[in-house]
Formats: sequence, structure tokens, C-alpha cells
Amino acid sequence: MVRVAREGLTLRMSQILVTGGTGKTGRRVVQQLTAAGVPVRVGSRSGTPPFDWTAPNTWDAALDGVASVFVVPHETEPTTRPFIRRCLETGVRRVVLLSGRGVDVPGYADLESPMAHVHVDGEAAVRASGLEWTIVRPTWFAQNFTEGFFRDAVLAGEIRLPAGKGAVPYVDAEDIAAVAVAALTEDTHHGQTYELSGPHALTFDEVTAEISRATGRTVRYVPLSEEEFIAELVTEGWSPAEASDYAAVISPIRHDLETPISDGVHRALGRPPLDFTTFTRTAWAT
Ligand SMILES: NC(=O)c1ccc[n+]([C@@H]2O[C@H](COP(=O)([O-])OP(=O)(O)OC[C@H]3O[C@@H](n4cnc5c(N)ncnc54)[C@H](OP(=O)(O)O)[C@@H]3O)[C@@H](O)[C@H]2O)c1
Repeated sequence: MVRVAREGLTLRMSQILVTGGTGKTGRRVVQQLTAAGVPVRVGSRSGTPPFDWTAPNTWDAALDGVASVFVVPHETEPTTRPFIRRCLETGVRRVVLLSGRGVDVPGYADLESPMAHVHVDGEAAVRASGLEWTIVRPTWFAQNFTEGFFRDAVLAGEIRLPAGKGAVPYVDAEDIAAVAVAALTEDTHHGQTYELSGPHALTFDEVTAEISRATGRTVRYVPLSEEEFIAELVTEGWSPAEASDYAAVISPIRHDLETPISDGVHRALGRPPLDFTTFTRTAWAT
């Protein structure tokens, strides 16, 4: 037990590489680790040293002296597998992988799309690696409305999507980060796959009502057919392939596949997940 405790301490005190460390999730992982006094290296193209998924010659410097890694995979390139191989070769012992809901569910989304393939292949590589691993599979982030996909639409007052009346239990990126930090720093999360959601599912009508209340400005949801959505994106300059990929990502919402509540936050942290109403009130408070 003493040996295990010492090993845990050594792991905690070694540097942790947080890839995607400037993004919605990774930034919060960096903040939470730093607040806990854990040495962190930000993995980013603008980091020191720079880390670039598409330039494997940047990986070794980023991994130097690193015992644990948080992996926010490249959006479309399946680089997780060769990166995990390099992690093993450079002495990394623990990896926590950010994946996504539904990657193990045939028919959920287009699992052949580059984005889904990154997660499917990345999960398989991590599970087979021999490293201590934890996988986090969040549903849609609450922060998509404040710093992600939907921010511009919120500011424009209209969210136009082919999401029908589907509901999503948005997960707060602070919770995703808290689960990742627990898995990076505690010895009880190996081999776990944590499905993460918030506590309640909301339709886009309910979301826009919440945001309108919080901001004092009217934001409305305009349901589109998939064809209308793709045509609008193409008019805005998207390629038809990119527009179809985006529509495919939304499709599980329209088909009510995103509605279920997941218990991962509770399983990993022993507390309920943060809720969307509180997030929205706080995020738009200024
Ligand atoms: N948004 C959602 O609702 C949702 C739901 C489930 C799963 N996910 C998954 O979450 C992941 C995205 O995480 P996120 O939203 O936290 O990230 P994000 O906010 O989109 O930020 C992307 C991060 O990746 C880094 N990055 C981009 N290209 C890079 C490259 N070539 N080399 C190195 N780093 C690179 C960026 O760093 P620099 O630009 O500084 O290099 C940044 O830190 C995706 O895999 C997505 O499938 C998202």
C-alpha cells in the first residue's frame, strides 16, 4: 500500500501534459491542476515547447519528463494511436482521453466520418496500450453556447438547426475537467469509461428561453430540415461535405438519442453534475 501510495504521489508530482490545453476542456483541466499545485505543461501549437498533432517531431519535447497526459484529440486526423505509441516509448504511465458520447453505438451518428473515426480509433488505441487509462465521453458541452459552435448564433439572436424537438443534457466543461483531473491525479479511475452529462435534458426551445432570461435579449430557436440546414451552410461558404458532416453531428439530437442522463460525473466525483440554468445565469451575468 505504501508503495502504491508513493507511486501515486510520484505520478501526481511529475509533469502532466494537457493537450488541447488552450481549448474549452483542456484550459479548465490546466486551471484545476494548477490550483491544486500540480505541475502542468500546456500542449498547444502556441505552448512552450509547441505541440502540434500534425507535426510528430514536436511530440517528444512536449512529452519530456511527463508521466500523465490528458488527450484532446485532433479534430479530424487519427493521430491518437501513433501518439499513444510515443507516450509508451517515452515513459508515460497514465492517459486520460477525451472522447464523445455515442462512439460505441452503431447507428448513433456517422461512425465513418473523420471526426467519429478519431474517437473510435483513439479509444481502441488507449484501451490496448497497456497504460493506465481513463476515457471520458461527454455529451454536448454547455459552453458551446458561450465559447463554441453556437456562440455566434446566440449573439445573432437565432439558433438555426435541424435538431427538431430533441433534448440534450448539456454537460458543463468544468465537470469534464474535474473528472479528467480526478483521473489524472487519483489511483481509482483506471479502466473506467465515464459517460458525462448534466442533470437535465433541454430542448433548443428551452435552451433559448433560458439564455433569453439570462441575457435579457430574445434568442430563438428555428428548427430546420437537414436539407435546409446544409443549403444554408453551403451559401455561407461551407463545402457540401463539411455541411453534411455538421448535419450528421446534429442528427442524434433530432432522433432523441442525446436525451439520456449519464451518471459519470457522480461515479467519478461522488457529487451531482452542474446544471445548465446555473451555468447560463453565471455565464451571461455581466
Ligand atoms: N463541443 C462539444 O459539445 C463536444 C462534445 C463531445 C465531445 N467533444 C470533443 O471535444 C474535443 C474538442 O475539445 P474542446 O472543445 O475542449 O477543444 P476546443 O475548444 O475546440 O479547442 C481545440 C484545442 O485543440 C488544440 N488544437 C487544435 N489543433 C491542434 C493541432 N494541430 N495541434 C495541437 N493542438 C491543436 C487547440 O490548441 P491551439 O489552437 O492553441 O494549438 C485547442 O487547445 C473534440 O474531440 C470533440 O469531438 C466535443
